[in-house]
Amino acid sequence: MTDPPTHAFRTLSGMRDVLAPESARRRALVATFADVVQAAGYQEVVLPLVEDLGVFLRVGEATDVVTKEMYDFVDKDGTRIALRPEMTAGAVRAFVQHKPLVPWKVWYAGSNFRHERPQKGRYRSFDQVGVEVLGVDDADLDVEVIALGWRFYELLGLRQVRLLLNSLGEHSDRERYTDAVRSYLESRKAELSEKSQETLARNPLRVLDSKRPEDRGVVAEAPRVADHLSAEAAEHFERVLAGLDALGIPYVVEDRLVRGLDYYRRTTFEYVADALDAAQNAVGGGGRYDRLAEDLGGPPTDGIGFALGVDRILLACDAEGVFEGVAPGLAAFVVDLVGGHAARDITHELRTAGISADRRFGGGSMKSQMKAADRSGARFALLVGSDEEERDEVTVRDLRGGGDQRRVPRTELIDDLRTHL
Ligand code: HAM
Repeated sequence: MTDPPTHAFRTLSGMRDVLAPESARRRALVATFADVVQAAGYQEVVLPLVEDLGVFLRVGEATDVVTKEMYDFVDKDGTRIALRPEMTAGAVRAFVQHKPLVPWKVWYAGSNFRHERPQKGRYRSFDQVGVEVLGVDDADLDVEVIALGWRFYELLGLRQVRLLLNSLGEHSDRERYTDAVRSYLESRKAELSEKSQETLARNPLRVLDSKRPEDRGVVAEAPRVADHLSAEAAEHFERVLAGLDALGIPYVVEDRLVRGLDYYRRTTFEYVADALDAAQNAVGGGGRYDRLAEDLGGPPTDGIGFALGVDRILLACDAEGVFEGVAPGLAAFVVDLVGGHAARDITHELRTAGISADRRFGGGSMKSQMKAADRSGARFALLVGSDEEERDEVTVRDLRGGGDQRRVPRTELIDDLRTHL
């Protein structure tokens, strides 16, 4: 037997419970996202929370996400597995495994885990919604994907989101560019912050992402990726920009945008919410990836996608005062003054007929039951006292319309509610 706990347990650091009404708001956010992407032909894919560690190593063996932040452990059978830090690798693994017809256009929603230093907007367990498309090498798809994310923020009511865009070129461009950045940074290493000196050894491009004031001067003069693009990559990027112009989506080309994962090539992008603190203002990001399908044992396949951070988007909505939440939409709340059986039976009848209904357990005075009815947000209170019971009737009181009420025969209750809801 285990000893009883000496203290009450709490959530682990960086992990949070989401209670009502915030939970309803999250659900509504995911529903809005699903509407946007399903209307563009994307279908949902549900992926496991854990995968073989090897799947995630492909995300980038030089990245913090893999080397420092992964929740990896040895399973009971000795397999090395990990909680997913993101969903792209799992989606591509699923693509390789199931060989669906291309283009494979999918969306997902779920939790991810990164052992980061927790702060507002940065958690160890966080939710993303996202899309991935496999099997299409067409710049217009980049435009479609970027536009879907943009549309979603717009639908939520966010007005202070900016789209940052860059091209990292083909794989070989990226390698040449990385070499150029490495030798440049090596030549000015002494001027860099200690942290960036460390990063330089592992992943020179990530130094360009540094927001530390000490690094600014060095970073500003670093080689530009635009000067290292092949003609093909440059043309692809031009077409993406032209497409965004055609759709009226504003963007900023940001050639220091390298992103935190290693699999990107060509188009990369980030959505930034100006209403949030700069350290956690990326509310979404994505891009084209190369070699991921091959690295996971599949045929060479083009891919592109994005993931949007649900937790941060909700913080941005708070900051902008939009997407404020949804009223609990109960239709009816039964107030039973005859011992409980009326509430038991009427809630069951209504629910079976597809009308949402709740009640208070344990009886209580009319006053306390009416208080519970108000708190539930229900449209109607259905009162059953001894008089109603004798006549086989219910008093229907409108809780939103100034308290109007009417008497309705029990047998007509469902029809009555249907006409008034
Ligand atoms: P990511 O930039 O690592 O990309 O994450 C996408 C978004 O998830 C971020 O912009 C941020 O909003 C949110 N996020 C990331 N880490 C945290 C955290 N610790 N706490 C709260 N929110 C966080 C990816 O994950 C790629 N899989 C995106 C992608 C899809 N690329 C191609 N397809």
